[in-house]
Amino acid sequence: MTTAIAMQKKLLREYAPPSFYISEVFLTFEIDPKTTQVTSVLKIQVNPQNKQSEIVLDGESLTLISVSLNGIILTPEDFKLTEKSLSIKVSKKEFELKIITHISPSENTQLEGLYLSKGMYSTQCEAEGFRRITYYLDRPDVLAKFTTKIIAPSGLPILLSNGNLIDQGNDEENSQHWAVWQDPFPKPCYLFALVAGKLECITDHFITSSGKKIDLKIYAEAYDADKLDYAMNALKQSMAWDERRFGREYDLDLFMIVAVSHFNMGAMENKGLNIFNSSCLVSHPKLTTDKEYRRISSIVAHEYLHNWSGNRITCRDWFQLSLKEGFTVYRDQVFSADLFSPAVERIESVQNLIEFQFTEDAGPLSHPVRPHEYEEINNFYTMTIYEKGAEIVRILQNLVGEKKFRQGTDYYFETYDGQAATIEDFVSCIHQVAPETFDKTQFLKWYDQGGTPIVQCSYFYDAVKKQLSLDFNQAAPEHDLWKNNFIPKVIPIRLALVANDGTIISLKDLKTNQKVYSDDQGDLIVLNQSNFSLTIEGLENSVIPSIGRGFSAPVHWRVKHSLEGWRNILKYETDSYCRWAAARHLYKELILGTQNINLGLCEFGEILLQILNDKTLDKRFQAALVRLPSFQEVIQGLPEVQVLQVLDRLDEVKEKFSQKYRQELVGLYQSLQKQASSLSNDFSGEAMGCRDLKNLILTLLTAQCDEQVIQFAEHQLMHSKTMTEIYEALKVLIHNDAPKSKEYLDYFRQIDPLHQSIIQKW
Ligand code: BES
Ligand code: ZN
Repeated sequence: MTTAIAMQKKLLREYAPPSFYISEVFLTFEIDPKTTQVTSVLKIQVNPQNKQSEIVLDGESLTLISVSLNGIILTPEDFKLTEKSLSIKVSKKEFELKIITHISPSENTQLEGLYLSKGMYSTQCEAEGFRRITYYLDRPDVLAKFTTKIIAPSGLPILLSNGNLIDQGNDEENSQHWAVWQDPFPKPCYLFALVAGKLECITDHFITSSGKKIDLKIYAEAYDADKLDYAMNALKQSMAWDERRFGREYDLDLFMIVAVSHFNMGAMENKGLNIFNSSCLVSHPKLTTDKEYRRISSIVAHEYLHNWSGNRITCRDWFQLSLKEGFTVYRDQVFSADLFSPAVERIESVQNLIEFQFTEDAGPLSHPVRPHEYEEINNFYTMTIYEKGAEIVRILQNLVGEKKFRQGTDYYFETYDGQAATIEDFVSCIHQVAPETFDKTQFLKWYDQGGTPIVQCSYFYDAVKKQLSLDFNQAAPEHDLWKNNFIPKVIPIRLALVANDGTIISLKDLKTNQKVYSDDQGDLIVLNQSNFSLTIEGLENSVIPSIGRGFSAPVHWRVKHSLEGWRNILKYETDSYCRWAAARHLYKELILGTQNINLGLCEFGEILLQILNDKTLDKRFQAALVRLPSFQEVIQGLPEVQVLQVLDRLDEVKEKFSQKYRQELVGLYQSLQKQASSLSNDFSGEAMGCRDLKNLILTLLTAQCDEQVIQFAEHQLMHSKTMTEIYEALKVLIHNDAPKSKEYLDYFRQIDPLHQSIIQKW
């Protein structure tokens, strides 16, 4: 006999509203490692639209102690208990259930529900973990007000839950104490959180634009308590940014973050009480790299930003997961772009998308951003739901423009505040600010169909007619799972014309055969069929059309330019993404082509040098443009790869470049080194850019790795104060077999003798 319970498939089209609503929840936790008693009092109403005489509550790994209905204890005949549910016959429109259960935090190794790890209790309830705490309607469209009392031994001094602390006290006789928390905002149970432990905290505050003072607290274990300042600052920046960019103020009087050492995910957005894996929160200037700082900042932002995109407006069901995750990733991307380097943040998101999401979407795990069915929702926290979801939000932004997009999100936040919404609700809110730009039903195909479309563009300049014709086509790739029933998508194509003298020509003032939309971001055409032809008249000279500016849709952009065309885009485009894509293309040509490298570097090399010398550019962007592609990147999409040949060519390009411009690179390195030395306590975008560019140049210089370069690296290793500089210098020294490699490694090890983090990095 098999005991495994067959998983039941859930279908989107079978969604039905809940038969009962829970308006209020009163929870009491009597904390104990083996037997924690949870008393739950639920105020329940029948959904008048969907009358049922039995309420079925979810529950897993619970020991039921008692159930009372309206104050009367039920006997086992009055309810039905299974491995996964508790069903109770009810007859009134409104009633109160009191359920007592026992759970065992110390035996809970799933890191879902309430668990104990290293002496600290914490919860993780998304997606369906609350049912491991008590019997409940564990679905996101049941929103209730929670009041939580935690009773615990005095040895666990910090007791936290969502909302505001409304009462606390001591029971000295029993060496216990207690705290009562109340969250005034109705929420689904996946946002419930509880923490109990020995924790230290840092405190700060934030004044909202309407003048409300919010207390901010970040908790961690004692040994991490001195490493929370950066996260606190990131939190305050996120709060200010959400007010500025999306008009969203924080709503409770208190916002808390707790760092825990055992946590399945990076972080979780529980209302007013975010819980983080400490590796995503703690930092120290001497130990944390710039990349890690940016990650901390973006995760802090992501979880904070969920307060509006996820908590105030939540998901109707888990099929709508991307409503909160995709939108919030989009929001944290814009936050990081505003805070650090707009150009490079976009480039890195696109790189990440292409490398991981496009790959996922081209393989057997390909699924729509809004899946039609699932067996286990935990398997759907994917690159597609997150990253492609964010790109689809960006498509909407591109279609309607920045200003109208903000009107649309304002309307969304106002309309659905306090509710559980769907992806369609969100799209409708954005659609209604510019209904003429796209068809909503067609747009929703982005959510319903997986796969990555290919957008092909070919063009021809007619010198006699002074006319440029562009032909666009969209299709599914050859081996796409979705090929047979591919539906053309609504694809915003941002574009501009690059003239040979370097001017960027807007289409706005030219005669075209198709509608061109223009806004602060430039010009836009909308491709919504398989084929589409655009003619632009009145062009005295030939131009290069720069297509897919800002990577305006998550597609494979395919456009053929001459080498000169690519060089002109790299040289003159004002769109950072297109410039970067042109640099990648030219590098790949050089590595994979048959052209002599010295010859190939003639003009391309000069442009790269110009970029390095351009003081008006953001330094991280300079580094991104000049950095050679990785081996992986070069061979991507190639049918056959001659590994050694590609590696050799990569090395040769680097060598020739650094040989040709040795003098200039040395000069730049020295000047950046000087600047960087005064920025060792600075983790702004600019300071990070300075270090990034300096490190890139050092790596380029190692192609001619002589005494001088080793000296640069050695000096950088021994005298820098940031991990980014120290780590990169060490890498250079070890990779180039510098004679004192062992000494360098010993030096590196002693930077943080107490912690393993450094060695792990290596
Ligand atoms: N809500 C998620 C955390 C989560 C994911 C809980 C899956 C339960 C199951 C959270 O907002 C999140 O997305 N966290 C990410 C980091 C974020 C910056 C993308 C994570 O934990 O990796
Ligand atoms: Zn999230």
